[in-house]
Amino acid sequence: MATELLLITFLSSPILLITLIITLLIIIIFRRRITSDPENKYRNLPPGHLGGWPFIGDTIPFMRPHSAASLGEFVDQKIARHGKIFKVKLFGKPTIVSADPSLNRFILQSEERLFLCSYPKGVENIMGKWSMLALTGEIHREMRSIALSFISNLKLKADFLSDIEEQAVEIISAWRENITFSAHEEAKKFAFNLMVKYLMSMNMSMPETAQLRKEYTSFMNGMASIPINLPGTAYRKALQSRLIILKIIGNKLDEKVQNTEEGLQGDDDLLASVVKNTDLKREQILDLILSILFAGHETSSAAISLAIYFLQSCPKALQQLREEHSKISKRKMEMGETRLNWDDYKKMEFTKCVINETLRLGNIVKFLHRKAIRDVQFNGYDIPCSWGVIPIISAEHLDPSIYEDPQQFNPWRWQIILSNVSKNNMIMSFSGGPRLCPGAELAKLEMAMLLHHLVQKYEWELAEKDFPVSFPFLEFPNGLPIKVHCV
Ligand code: HEM
Repeated sequence: MATELLLITFLSSPILLITLIITLLIIIIFRRRITSDPENKYRNLPPGHLGGWPFIGDTIPFMRPHSAASLGEFVDQKIARHGKIFKVKLFGKPTIVSADPSLNRFILQSEERLFLCSYPKGVENIMGKWSMLALTGEIHREMRSIALSFISNLKLKADFLSDIEEQAVEIISAWRENITFSAHEEAKKFAFNLMVKYLMSMNMSMPETAQLRKEYTSFMNGMASIPINLPGTAYRKALQSRLIILKIIGNKLDEKVQNTEEGLQGDDDLLASVVKNTDLKREQILDLILSILFAGHETSSAAISLAIYFLQSCPKALQQLREEHSKISKRKMEMGETRLNWDDYKKMEFTKCVINETLRLGNIVKFLHRKAIRDVQFNGYDIPCSWGVIPIISAEHLDPSIYEDPQQFNPWRWQIILSNVSKNNMIMSFSGGPRLCPGAELAKLEMAMLLHHLVQKYEWELAEKDFPVSFPFLEFPNGLPIKVHCV
């Protein structure tokens, strides 16, 4: 009835009718401009739709939590309909999503020539404009070389290995038999304590370490939230936590500056070395430390939890791992040594297979954020300049044409892969190209040290059902509750 009345009003007034027609024409032209304009210029855009919600497009279904050993329903459906390369509107931008391994490697290798790292504004605001995730170009290279020299192989051998082992023993020794606890929380504690020690010489007994960890939790919750800065939102809380975290790091920075000015030896950590050896500004140093703390602890703790999760479901792998580590320990006892060294680590052949398989099936980082900085053509498709580009790096790990029976936790597959030198860098978990994760070897070392002590001391079982979920950060919804028993 109301519609009929409206129609009669419009038809009886020519001016209103003309206004209606013009408005409709403007809407049609505007919609065509938004959705189809690129299609006029770029003939071969990948298939897909730039629809969804205003501004955010299909971000919500794309980010919906799902099993980490899958690509999620949204991506699976898109691949079934359009193939491995498709267009969609995400994070406010027209975006090309790629689940195609060869395009993904091409994107990562062409960093700064054709594509550029480009995280959504919300993530950048929380991490800081000087964080390594947000930086590109010369300043990124400068920050990266600081991170690289800090985690160089030499340091891993000399300093880190014994620290990591000590921390692993300390964490594991505190576990009690038959009492349920969150293995993911313990893994976070392990990786966090190591990171704050390397970065700022902080330890567990300091009250500011506990405060840093507490603030860090709400900081992380905001990373995957919708960036709405209103009271009560996870995003607002994360921004507030960022300020508290920066204050704690800032206090440590003041100590290092004072030590340097007074000519004192001081601590041997990254913060002290940046103060002594670089001319970075205060806000740059704070964001650098914050970003390495984030990159270096969330990921390796997830990797350790994943190993605990996968091994409890594969007794054969656990048994073989235990035999490898018992053999190493027995040899050390015969030599009268107690602590592990680099040579022992090099002997952990099957452990490396377990680590790779854990990273493959666990998919700690599902996708990366890039944008095209030139018009690019790939296999006949146009990727327009300034469009978002999302390489789903986990797609390669779950591709049955690359990994037979990809849903199966099968560490033995790596005995063949790792014997082929050219395939040694096959795993995509650490990205690739000029932004390849500088902490990859450190993360593997942390996993190996913890596994060495864990498998020799305990059997374990899930106390409650749980599984790894891409949130998009890797999470265990129940915290991976386990019970341990001495072997
Ligand atoms: C299993 C554990 C880890 C995984 C799966 C992982 C994964 C990644 C990935 C995928 C990237 C690339 C991001 C991009 O290209 O946009 C990255 C970058 C980075 N990671 Fe890791 N990471 C791990 C452990 C670590 C550790 C232990 C550290 C440090 C101590 C670390 C420090 C960094 C840093 C500083 C970057 C930035 C590199 C750059 O922008 O050039 N990561 N990581």
